[in-house]
Amino acid sequence: MIDVIDLKKYFPVVSGIRSLFSRSRGKVVKAVDSVSFQIETGQVLGLVGESGCGKSTTGRVLLDLEQPTSGDILINGESGRALKKKNRKTYYRRIQMIFQDPYGSINPQHNVASILSRPLMYQGIRDKTIIRDKMLETLDRVGLSPPEAFLEKYPHLLSGGQRQRLCIGRAIILEPEFLVADEPISMLDVSIKSGIIILLKRLVREQNLSLLYITHDLATVGHLCDKIAIMYMGRIVEIGPTDDVLDRPGHPYTRALISSIPIPDPSITRSGAPISGAISDPVNLPSGCRFHPRCPYAENLCRQREPVSAAVKDNPEHGAACFLTDKLPGFDLTKGHRC
Ligand SMILES: Nc1ncnc2c1ncn2[C@@H]1O[C@H](COP(=O)(O)OP(=O)(O)OP(=O)(O)O)[C@@H](O)[C@H]1O
Ligand SMILES: [Mg+2]
Repeated sequence: MIDVIDLKKYFPVVSGIRSLFSRSRGKVVKAVDSVSFQIETGQVLGLVGESGCGKSTTGRVLLDLEQPTSGDILINGESGRALKKKNRKTYYRRIQMIFQDPYGSINPQHNVASILSRPLMYQGIRDKTIIRDKMLETLDRVGLSPPEAFLEKYPHLLSGGQRQRLCIGRAIILEPEFLVADEPISMLDVSIKSGIIILLKRLVREQNLSLLYITHDLATVGHLCDKIAIMYMGRIVEIGPTDDVLDRPGHPYTRALISSIPIPDPSITRSGAPISGAISDPVNLPSGCRFHPRCPYAENLCRQREPVSAAVKDNPEHGAACFLTDKLPGFDLTKGHRC
């Protein structure tokens, strides 16, 4: 079980010597602002939102690639902060990341054996037979078979899909408990995207791990995710089981995202207005609800106070941070949101 508690990451707008003279001194971008969620073992949470809303920063902070401003993660009950202090290597074994770019995230000068053996050696495993067996087993798991044929290959000989499978293999070879996948299919050909989604789904169940699947594409989450969290300007504005969020969205932003998913059938038109306007300036956040400048339903209260998450349709598993959830007009769902 992964439990992320009140995670914050604020970036100073200017840093170093310039900050002494700049008018933006002291100003921050609240990239991640009080984000909390849980992922059960063997389950997938989809983190969805527009560009710049803080999805990758959330992942990077969890992976320790950025220092959090505050907050913690509990990995099966153990504090990430405490684990890092005690033994960083153990922390890195338990949490792994898959990046968006399978070309940029592996060293083209290393062959598959070298790429896969590195994490094992970093963790102190030196026995060549154990390393070879583990590499072969992992290659097989990620669908690169026969595995023996891949060990000596260099990344330029692999297709985009095979490279991403290799990156997934590198991430799971240490049998982590928590995997963060940041837009893992967005740079791949349409024809191979679904193969990677199916692979991730299988690995989550087989290896009993928790997966945070980061994407801006709501259309893919229905296939993979048990739960969805919708993020807007550093905050989670809606979270719940996938079907509840997609079928009964309680936040106008979620409705707008669903309305903007294209339906591959020209005879079907969607109800609900797709999102309009641009995201607000992240340095000078709007008062009240951060979404109110773009919200077609905003009232005075929304401009004055920031809503907290409340149950949608009395379902304690499904929450939305909106004052108007119960007052929103019916959401006529047309088909196609899981295409
Ligand atoms: N190292 C950094 N220094 C300053 N600001 C940063 C830094 N990294 C991210 N940000 C800012 O934090 C905010 C969130 O960025 P982030 O990359 O997490 O968004 P994202 O949701 O992953 O977007 P995308 O879908 O484009 O990948 C943005 O306003 C971004 O400019
Ligand atoms: Mg990102």
